[in-house]
Amino acid sequence: MYRYRYVFYAILFTCFFFSLISAIYFFTKTLHSNVSLNKHSSSKKADYHFILIPEEEDNPYWELIEKGAKDAGRKFHVEVEYIGPVQTNVNEQIKAIEKAIASKVDGIITQGIDNPAFSKVVNQAENEGIPVITIDTDAPDSDRSAYIGSNNYRAGYLAGKTLIKDTKGQAVVGIITGNHNENEVLRVKGFKKAVENTPKIKIAAVKSSNISRIQAAEKTYEIYQHYPNVTAFYGTSALDGLGISAVTEQFGKSKDIYILAFDTLPETMSLIKKGSIQAAIQQQPYTMGRDSIKTMVKLLNHQNTSKSIFTKISVIHKGDLFSESSNKYKKASDYD
Ligand code: BGC
Repeated sequence: MYRYRYVFYAILFTCFFFSLISAIYFFTKTLHSNVSLNKHSSSKKADYHFILIPEEEDNPYWELIEKGAKDAGRKFHVEVEYIGPVQTNVNEQIKAIEKAIASKVDGIITQGIDNPAFSKVVNQAENEGIPVITIDTDAPDSDRSAYIGSNNYRAGYLAGKTLIKDTKGQAVVGIITGNHNENEVLRVKGFKKAVENTPKIKIAAVKSSNISRIQAAEKTYEIYQHYPNVTAFYGTSALDGLGISAVTEQFGKSKDIYILAFDTLPETMSLIKKGSIQAAIQQQPYTMGRDSIKTMVKLLNHQNTSKSIFTKISVIHKGDLFSESSNKYKKASDYD
C-alpha cells in the first residue's frame, strides 16, 4: 500500500512538475507574443501621420521620392500617405491639400505650385498648426515652413554649361520643358543665362510637354519640322529626354542630334549607355523624400531647420556609368 502511495505521489509530483514547466513555457511564450504584438502594434500605431502630395502619382521620378519618404517613415515611426493627381493637375493637388487639412494630418509635404490658390491653402494649413514642406519645387511666396529639393536655377545653369562644353559651343537647341511650374521655369532661365554669351548657341524654340513623354515626342517632332537645322535638344523634366530620343531614334538621327536630359531614371540611364542621350542633369529624388520626413519630424519637435535645403545636382555622361573598380556599368539605383 505504502508502495502504491509512493507511486501515486511520484505521479502527482511528475504531473505537477510538468504542468509547472508547461505553465512557465506558455507564460513566457504568451509574454513574448505580447511583446511582439506590442512591437507590431507600436510600429503600426505611428507617432505621426504625414501626407506626401506629388505632381503626378504614377510618375517614376515621384515614385523615387515616395520610396525615400516611406523608408524614412519606417525609421521615424511616421505613417506616410502618398496621394496626388494621376496626371499633373493643379486643382487636384490643391484639393488633396484641403483634404489633408480637413483630416488633421500632422504634416503636409507637397510639390510647390506658383499659384495664389496654392499659397492660400498652404497658409491655411500653417495657420491651423500643420507645417507644410514644399518638395522638388518651391513656393517661396507661401508661408511654407521649408523647401527641400534642387536649386533649379543652378541646375539649369549647369545644363547650359554642359551643353556648351559637349557641343564645343556650337548648337541650335530645341528646349522641351515640362510646364510652367517654378522649377521648370528656373531650369530654362538658368540655361539661357549660361549660354547667353556663347554666340554660336542658338535657341530655336521652347515647347511644353506637360511632363508627358508622348507630348515631349510630339513637341520634338514639331520643332524638328519647323527647324530642320536643330542640332541639340534639352529636356527639363524627367520624361522629356525619353520622348525626345524616341523621335531622334525613329528618324535615325541619334548620332547627329545631341540630347541633354533631366534626371537619371533607369530608362534614361540605358539610353545614355546606348548613346541616344548624351548627358543628364541628376537630381536626388530619393534623398528629397527621405530628408523631407526627417525635416518634418524636426519641425514638429521645434528643432531648428533651414528654410531651404538644397539637394545635390550633378551631370552624368556615358563615361560616368562605368565603374572601373567593378568593371561593370553602375545601376541606376547607384545614383541616388
Ligand atoms: C521634376 C518634377 C516633375 C518630373 C516630371 C522632374 O524633373 O523635378 O517636378 O514632376 O520631372 O517627370
